[in-house]
Amino acid sequence: MGYREVYDSWKADPESYWMNAAEAIDWDRKPTKALFDENAPLYEWFADGMVNTCYNAVDRHVENGRGDQTAIIYDSPITHTKREVTYFELRNRVATLAGALRAKGVEKGDRVIIYMPMIPEALEAMLACARLGAIHSVVFGGFAASELAVRIDDAKPKAIIAASCGLEPGRVVHYKPLLDGAIDQASHKPDFCVIYQREQEVAHLEEGRDYNWHGFQYGVEPAECVPVEGNHPAYILYTSGTTGAPKGVVRPTGGHLVALNWTMKNIYNVDPGDVFWAASDVGWVVGHSYICYAPLIHGNTTVVFEGKPIGTPDAGTFWRVIEEHDVKCFFTAPTAFRAVKREDPTGEFVKKYDLSCLNAIYLAGERADPDTIEWMQDKLGKPVYDHWWQTETGYTIAGNPVGIEALPVKIGSPTVPMPGYDVQILDEAGHPMKPGELGAIAVKLPLPPGTLPGLWNANDRFIKSYLTTFPGYYETGDAGMIDEDGYLYIMARTDDVINVAGHRLSTGGMEEVLAAHPDVAECAVIGVTDQLKGQLPMGFVCLNKGATKSHEDVVKDCIKLVRDKIGPVAAFKLCAVVDRLPKTRSGKILRATMVKIADGEDFKMPATIDDPTILDEIRAAVKPLGYAGG
Ligand code: COA
Ligand code: AMP
Repeated sequence: MGYREVYDSWKADPESYWMNAAEAIDWDRKPTKALFDENAPLYEWFADGMVNTCYNAVDRHVENGRGDQTAIIYDSPITHTKREVTYFELRNRVATLAGALRAKGVEKGDRVIIYMPMIPEALEAMLACARLGAIHSVVFGGFAASELAVRIDDAKPKAIIAASCGLEPGRVVHYKPLLDGAIDQASHKPDFCVIYQREQEVAHLEEGRDYNWHGFQYGVEPAECVPVEGNHPAYILYTSGTTGAPKGVVRPTGGHLVALNWTMKNIYNVDPGDVFWAASDVGWVVGHSYICYAPLIHGNTTVVFEGKPIGTPDAGTFWRVIEEHDVKCFFTAPTAFRAVKREDPTGEFVKKYDLSCLNAIYLAGERADPDTIEWMQDKLGKPVYDHWWQTETGYTIAGNPVGIEALPVKIGSPTVPMPGYDVQILDEAGHPMKPGELGAIAVKLPLPPGTLPGLWNANDRFIKSYLTTFPGYYETGDAGMIDEDGYLYIMARTDDVINVAGHRLSTGGMEEVLAAHPDVAECAVIGVTDQLKGQLPMGFVCLNKGATKSHEDVVKDCIKLVRDKIGPVAAFKLCAVVDRLPKTRSGKILRATMVKIADGEDFKMPATIDDPTILDEIRAAVKPLGYAGG
């Protein structure tokens, strides 16, 4: 069957389609049906099945003869370390860690925050939680202590598992002081912390609260896999919304197993035993789904890479890892290739390595610009597949279903909706638009298995943010169009989320931080175009009357504030003081116009603008920041 037949067969009978896909999972009790729609518009999948994620990702492979296969390849050009963990070793390590967590009181349903860099122990911590039915929430290392504190207060973890440090090129990220600071700031306190001491930095442990990763596991009884209900939350992953308060996306256990396993063959076209590499971070959804869970559930070998596309040590790192570890499928964000292309435009490093093992490259996380795709195709001679998805869905909404049928690539399009997703382009009133017309991208409910059933402790916010604008649909927050051939194009966000180096950030969240500066009367943060990172945040602040600090000092303070409150990952380095912000007569800040001015694009003067002369001031402010000013 080709793509069209498969998609139509799903649409004709979604229930059989997903029950069939669920056969590939080992259930402790099989679900009696796929969809549970009693609480529509809130939906659940496989709710009456019983299953364990860790069993499916680890133990079953040992029982089925894959024990000696490498499960995890750790390759860290930053620490000059390479290490392999077999499925057999992984099973034992995870069972012991889970046993130690249980001995300290962690049980099914308890939350555990994981704050770790790209080391195999991060995956082991995730899997140990899954083994017990505990709900993990991994926090990315590039966030500041206050972001971690917000997550601690929302998830209320019984335990926090962290490493002593992370390693960025030329800089040690001191995780432990960040963690201590976050626990101090948070109202909720975990019962205990487990610290993995890295040799690059040994952290101080707080007597009675902090345990050493190794010592705490000594002599414990290994834990068995605890079956949980199909709708039991596997994890919470916080992502940026339109305010500073992040959204806790909940991932349901049963659908997650079924859907991720399905994607490995149908989208990535790999078979069990093949090496799969997603160069991302466990702190992001790509890391959850494609560094940890999907490859392991499917019996693949996954690569945990602690390095950067360039500078660790050079722009040939990707190619070295692919050759050395026999990678068949490689997945990363376009920004990583933009970095490589900038450093090695003629592809000299590519020529040094044998990439014959590699079948294809997959891109996601941000718009894949045609220049970069063409460069990759030219230099690598491999198929490059863009695919579009979100933290909320956990896997591809639209992609090229290569394992079913490799569809012709149209550069600029992530290709077509996957089975499970009825994607529609809607106008403001919620009416479907014609092919080629730009509108809001929405997905007809129910979303397929594995996607978010709600937000952690915030189902009202879930309904308000995603299900209210277009009744009967999930609002993706992206705008775009579908062409005559059914190919989807993702053009822009409809909210204030920006995408910086494949990282999703909220400009609203940054505005909240700037507004807290005592001299700032009002402010606006916009996303401007950047050749490397896709977008960068740019802030404009208006000062209170009587503010005594120099403009230069206020700008410095603002940059430091965002780094301290949100984290280095926000990459907030462009900021200017202006007298006024351009607004409509009703007082709405004209952010879209400001973006056009900074990017040097033509724009139509908004009919509702209060005072057009303010735009000249914005023009003058962006020029010294290296932006065009229109
Ligand atoms: N822990 C602590 N700090 C981190 C971090 C982590 N895990 N990841 C990034 N940071 C820091 C960086 O060190 C940098 O700090 P600096 O301001 O002191 O230089 C800052 O956050 C911004 O990071 P980033 O936007 O990633 O920029 P960069 O200049 O370090 O690297 C790229 C640019 C393109 C090489 C890098 O973004 C990259 O490899 N991207 C790959 C794409 C990716 O992983 N996307 C995830 C979703 S698929
Ligand atoms: P995240 O939740 O961090 O994965 O970010 C999801 C958002 O990133 C989407 O809503 C899009 O705005 C953007 N995005 C992800 N993948 C793509 C893609 N292939 N093309 C265009 N935008 C993308």
